[in-house]
Amino acid sequence: MPQANDWPSWLTDWPEAEARQRFSAEKHGDYLRWQAAIDAMPALEAGALQLSQAAVGCDFADASAEQIQQLEQCLQALHPWRKGPFQLGSVHIDTEWHSDWKWDRLAPAMGGLEGQRILDIGCGNGYFGWRMLGAGADAVVGIDPTLVFCMQHRAVQRLLDHPNHWVLPLGVEDIPASHRFDWVLSMGVLYHRKNPQEHIKQMYALTEDGGKCVMETLVVDAADSLYPQDRYARMRNIGVIPNLTDLRQWMTDAGYQNIELIDLSPTTTEEQRTTSWMRFESLDKSLDPRNPGLTVEGLPAPLRAMLIGAR
Ligand SMILES: C[S@@+](CC[C@H](N)C(=O)[O-])C[C@H]1O[C@@H](n2cnc3c(N)ncnc32)[C@H](O)[C@@H]1O
Repeated sequence: MPQANDWPSWLTDWPEAEARQRFSAEKHGDYLRWQAAIDAMPALEAGALQLSQAAVGCDFADASAEQIQQLEQCLQALHPWRKGPFQLGSVHIDTEWHSDWKWDRLAPAMGGLEGQRILDIGCGNGYFGWRMLGAGADAVVGIDPTLVFCMQHRAVQRLLDHPNHWVLPLGVEDIPASHRFDWVLSMGVLYHRKNPQEHIKQMYALTEDGGKCVMETLVVDAADSLYPQDRYARMRNIGVIPNLTDLRQWMTDAGYQNIELIDLSPTTTEEQRTTSWMRFESLDKSLDPRNPGLTVEGLPAPLRAMLIGAR
């Protein structure tokens, strides 16, 4: 059963019924198994939430060894855990990504977030939402169409029980531009979009006057943006990996001003790797073993840029 506070009541014209329907066996064959795992989580009382440290989570005052073992088993049933880490009592979820490293590159540029309402497009399980709440944000709405990530958020929320953090099973194409946010984030989404310029225009429409966006994406350090014909680092559905000139131009064309590059970093096999909580193959298998500067397809290895623009 959904919890009472599982929908932000102020998003009145977002497709609530459609989002709710996606939490169903009809929409996803694994839904019942995932929900059963969440229902089997032990009832533990969270102490103070820890949202300002690398591993987001909480302590439990009285948790027996059996309860912790049960909790770990339930959370493992929601494999693969890509974004994190999380620390739930003594259970450390060592996720595929050190998302805390990305947060450390982003947080100084975002600054204090007191009073801010934030939309995180393609939020995964909501890791960055927790960090933004830790930085003072009023409310964070994440959207992500991948149901297992929404289920991971549901599991973490069951323990942390925060009144103003949602991860909704919606794609960016599902939401109307009727409601604007103080910050709109799109991290790791642009290169999956068929029309990246349209995506940035939609972000602009969702950004409050005086608000800002965070655009984080793979980029190429090359004269021309890259339009992979086939896979890129073994990923399908990569439309474009822009160079910084094109990316800035698209943000400007959408209407953003004062566009600032706040970080440019290669993705390393220390930041993205296989762990016991993400047992599939990871970045190391996507790089050329003889030349880690290239992907297995012979294209430039992943380089990520983070930009901020103001409306
Ligand atoms: C590379 S991950 C990035 C996750 C996170 N934002 C980060 O920076 O670590 C891309 C995410 O975008 C989500 N996604 C894919 N298509 C989307 C869409 N149409 N709308 C919103 N999110 C989407 C995927 O499910 C995935 O969780």
